[in-house]
Amino acid sequence: MTGTLKPSASMSLAGKICLVTGAAGGIGLAAAQALAGAGARLMLSDVDEARGRQVVADFHALGLDARFMACDVTNAASVEALVARAVEEFGRIDCAVNNAGVETRHAKLADHDDAEFDRAIAVNLKGVYLCMKHELRQLLAQGGGVIVNVASVAGLGGAPTLGGYSASKHGVMGLTRTAAIEYAKRGIRVNAVCPSYTNTDMVQRMLERNPGLREALVNASPMKRLGEPEEVGLAVAWLCGDESSFINGQGLALDGGLTAW
Ligand SMILES: NC(=O)c1ccc[n+]([C@@H]2O[C@H](COP(=O)([O-])OP(=O)(O)OC[C@H]3O[C@@H](n4cnc5c(N)ncnc54)[C@H](O)[C@@H]3O)[C@@H](O)[C@H]2O)c1
Repeated sequence: MTGTLKPSASMSLAGKICLVTGAAGGIGLAAAQALAGAGARLMLSDVDEARGRQVVADFHALGLDARFMACDVTNAASVEALVARAVEEFGRIDCAVNNAGVETRHAKLADHDDAEFDRAIAVNLKGVYLCMKHELRQLLAQGGGVIVNVASVAGLGGAPTLGGYSASKHGVMGLTRTAAIEYAKRGIRVNAVCPSYTNTDMVQRMLERNPGLREALVNASPMKRLGEPEEVGLAVAWLCGDESSFINGQGLALDGGLTAW
């Protein structure tokens, strides 16, 4: 398992039940580690069953309470079954982290691949919609809870050569803001994290396809580096906890100042 579990004295999710999608690696795994570090019990899922089960085995080896169920977030029945399984295992869901996502290949809009556009919308946007829908039904039934969506800085502004990805993440921000207002009176908070380029397998794939991209990204970054998944994971855990109790409907940029211009 990459990363480490760092129990946080300033953040407590002791006994909270947290569901994470796309938890087999990258930001999802880092979020799961941060949540577990703050005391949460985890319902983890991913479309990659082998990696997901290995992650859960690693958590068990550390004495942590985590369960795994394979889930493809593009499939409504699969998402509904995941939420049902979490409730069956733990009785409730306190926090849901909708993280599963895919990248698109870099190309300007006139040259965008149609299948890649459809895939980005299916996983990144419809997947989050399906997860939120079934999670919200559970949160409403139990009287409250928290949702954190993993959007992107590409959901806060234009992202040249990433049109389909940017459109999908703007959609996630629309769902986040809408649900935050719709359910604020029902004890439910909904926020998003918006990372810039972060060191995960997704970005590794992008860097391998685009020689010179790393240097360009580092140059464009006010802090002259990419983000680390652990930095995003800690923000996710904070947004899940009572420490962020008055934050609702926001997209928290984790970008070293990139969008502060
Ligand atoms: N890495 C970055 O620079 C960056 C920046 C901003 C936002 N994000 C977002 O963060 C999230 C996680 O990205 P990452 O960088 O960790 O990527 P990653 O590719 O390393 O991990 C993504 C995980 O999602 C899973 N997944 C993919 N399709 C799925 C599906 N249909 N159903 C369930 N699981 C599925 C994968 O198996 C994988 O484990 C994504 O939503 C991504 O768009 C990433």
